[in-house]
Amino acid sequence: MNKRKNINIDINSEELKQQHYMEQVKQWNDEYFEKTSRRRKHLTVTYGCQMNEHDSEEISWILESMGYSPADNKEDSDLIIYNTCSVRENADLKVYGQLGALKALKREKPDITIAVCGCMSQQESVRNFIMDKFKHVDIIFGTNNIYKLPQLINSHLQTGETIVDIIEESREIVENIDANRKYNFKAFVDIMYGCNNFCSYCIVPYTRGREKSRIPENILKEIELLAQKGYKEITLLGQNVNSYGKNLETPYTFAQLLRDINEVDGIERIRFMTSHPKDLSDELIHAMRDCDKVCKHLHLPVQSGSDKILRNMNRKYTKEKYLKLVEKIKREIPNIVLTTDIIVGFPGETEEDFKETLDLVKKVKYDSAYTFLYSMREGTIAAKHEEQVPDNIKHERFQRLLDTLYPIFYESNKNYMNKIVKVLVEDISKNDESMLNGRTDSSKLVHFKGDKDLIGTFVNVKITDVKTFTLEGHIV
Ligand code: SAH
Ligand code: SF4
Ligand code: F3S
Repeated sequence: MNKRKNINIDINSEELKQQHYMEQVKQWNDEYFEKTSRRRKHLTVTYGCQMNEHDSEEISWILESMGYSPADNKEDSDLIIYNTCSVRENADLKVYGQLGALKALKREKPDITIAVCGCMSQQESVRNFIMDKFKHVDIIFGTNNIYKLPQLINSHLQTGETIVDIIEESREIVENIDANRKYNFKAFVDIMYGCNNFCSYCIVPYTRGREKSRIPENILKEIELLAQKGYKEITLLGQNVNSYGKNLETPYTFAQLLRDINEVDGIERIRFMTSHPKDLSDELIHAMRDCDKVCKHLHLPVQSGSDKILRNMNRKYTKEKYLKLVEKIKREIPNIVLTTDIIVGFPGETEEDFKETLDLVKKVKYDSAYTFLYSMREGTIAAKHEEQVPDNIKHERFQRLLDTLYPIFYESNKNYMNKIVKVLVEDISKNDESMLNGRTDSSKLVHFKGDKDLIGTFVNVKITDVKTFTLEGHIV
């Protein structure tokens, strides 16, 4: 670390309070174990983005510190938590379906505790709907108070009442929570919470509150500890990592953070999500170029290619500005892999607007893209727009967008034919246990034959076949 001196972070009174409740619940669970030789079990079901996935890893850590062990299914659980997403309507509907289906289980096992957290809980209308329609939900908490879970569970156990606890302001930065990470070689690390951008279609600023950055010392300390435990890859998380550090007492940029993390021994790959095009600085492009551990992959959501739609989305760039930015990135980092998010059918989108999106994706030649049908989110500015695009037109445009994108992805993958790539082995394949999956530095998914002992290690793979979404090959 340069420029900043290390500081010791004292445990604060809130953290002490939660430790106290943690011990109480643990005692209750330990007594049950002594009597029955069975551990109470939890099931944490996660929807939504990586941020939610990582929040669930923290929730699991809190629960397991309190003596719960993980359950394989709902029937065998004593505590079920739905960590919800609200980014599109489908996400809400899935959770309502799940909650409805739990009514019968709660009748059969009245002692089971059911909790809902995440982005749906943060919205008052959704919360009221859940309390009204799903009276078997025992605890509702939000995205900003995960650290309070010991207290909330304890209160419910003591009183038997429904506990609702929401903090509107963005997440308290509590540093004494660890995470039960899904993998032991790659890890998510939060660098900031919340979002200040208010893209007109998006619910996230309402569910995650305003931007708040963790101080770099704490981020680096977490990454150093991960490296000591053998982690090789980290993914830095924030809704808009480019604005990292702006609200810190000592201003500090995301580019500086990348340069500092690049010095951590043991970490071999650094990824990050997500970058807003309006804030992508030259300083960051240079840091990506210079830092050997920073993967040459940039997820740069464009959302639309039409200036009118971009303006109405409040994205603060034009098609031309975005294309110029892409040109600069490709010039500075010639092997960069670019991916994006695109919304089809934003209110007021005409055929001409949509054609601008098709034109843009052909010019950028993305390696991959997440494509979404616009979904109206109550409380956002775009939901009030009168010219909503009819569903049939949205679907038709969506299909045309995929028909344009897929050949572009395939063309980009063809460049890997007969090349040898370095892959971090992640998993065994779902369909065939003799096959492994892993990712290149550029985030391409690779399938190849190999032993599961290789998971968590780097191997060299020669690419012998390519598909639209994957590369295939053999270890060399
Ligand atoms: N902060 C990140 C991710 C936000 S959510 C970013 O700005 O990139 C991930 C994606 O969901 C967005 O990029 C957008 O493409 C999509 N999305 C958000 N709200 C949506 C909505 N109301 N309807 C359809 N897609 C939406
Ligand atoms: Fe939503 Fe825009 Fe913030 Fe991303 S930058 S979370 S799309 S408001
Ligand atoms: Fe969904 Fe919330 Fe993430 S709305 S996409 S879980 S920030």
